[in-house]
Amino acid sequence: MRHLLGIEGMSRDHLEDLMDLADRFTEVLARDIPKVPTLVGKTVATVFFEPSTRTRLSFERAARALSADVLTFNPGTSSVTKGESLKDTVLTLRAMGTDLMVVRHEATGAAHRVAEWVDVPVVNGGDGAHEHPTQALLDSLTLRRHFGKLDGLKVGIVGDIRHSRVARSCLRAFVTLGASVVLIAPPTLLPLSTEGWGVDTADDLDVVIGDLDVVYLLRVQAERGGGSGFTSIPEYVRRFGLDDDRFARLHPEAVVMHPGPMNRGVEISPTVADDSRTLILDQVRNGVASRMAVLFRLLAAPGDTL
Ligand code: NCD
Repeated sequence: MRHLLGIEGMSRDHLEDLMDLADRFTEVLARDIPKVPTLVGKTVATVFFEPSTRTRLSFERAARALSADVLTFNPGTSSVTKGESLKDTVLTLRAMGTDLMVVRHEATGAAHRVAEWVDVPVVNGGDGAHEHPTQALLDSLTLRRHFGKLDGLKVGIVGDIRHSRVARSCLRAFVTLGASVVLIAPPTLLPLSTEGWGVDTADDLDVVIGDLDVVYLLRVQAERGGGSGFTSIPEYVRRFGLDDDRFARLHPEAVVMHPGPMNRGVEISPTVADDSRTLILDQVRNGVASRMAVLFRLLAAPGDTL
């Protein structure tokens, strides 16, 4: 693997290798000193042009747990405000000795472009509504750790699928790992075409909710136009919110997931958000180990051991 730009085209073996490695890094993170020297002397830059809490911080945590140095690029206080381009920004970071870049940008394909410009590995930390591969990896790991495997699981991804890079990456990973996926949203928030994705679609959460093993909720991506996909927030909550009544109708062993940031009271009720069957903080925890696995595979020398 030279870069990690998307889940599209990744094999089941490849996903499983990264999850196996993440399991080993979970053990490292549970030690008294949760750190290994593997990437001493390497520098990882997080180049985020969009807001982030989880993704950026967990990449930085993962890099430090592998003993790499971290450069944090912040567009608001950078020369981007003076008109500097994405290309000149990443070439500048590379010239300072960056060994790997994690890139988040509002434009689809931004990380792919960066990968053409720099001679170091690039990880896509989210490009527009296109892909967010490490989110799919940490979510697959969370499901595998909870259920043992994804084969045969019925996963409902609910909400603003059309504008969600998380949905695109997750559905690909879940299908590749043997789950069946149903996308649940009003037609205005479904992609224009799902041909070739191997998923079902539904527009009534109440019809399918009792069949699901996993309810994966999404935030309405207002910054990408998601807010115009339904008439009002109360209407969205009424039809697609996981409120306490709907939660009570889930299979007793079903779990709830959300990539964050969540809007309590919109896609998820405050009580459901805090329920023990809601795996949101497990997802965050698994994010660090999953990103360690990705950084290790992209930066460790052949033959390096953990
Ligand atoms: C998501 C993102 O930015 O793509 N968050 C994340 O990385 N965990 C989802 C979102 O913003 O709704």
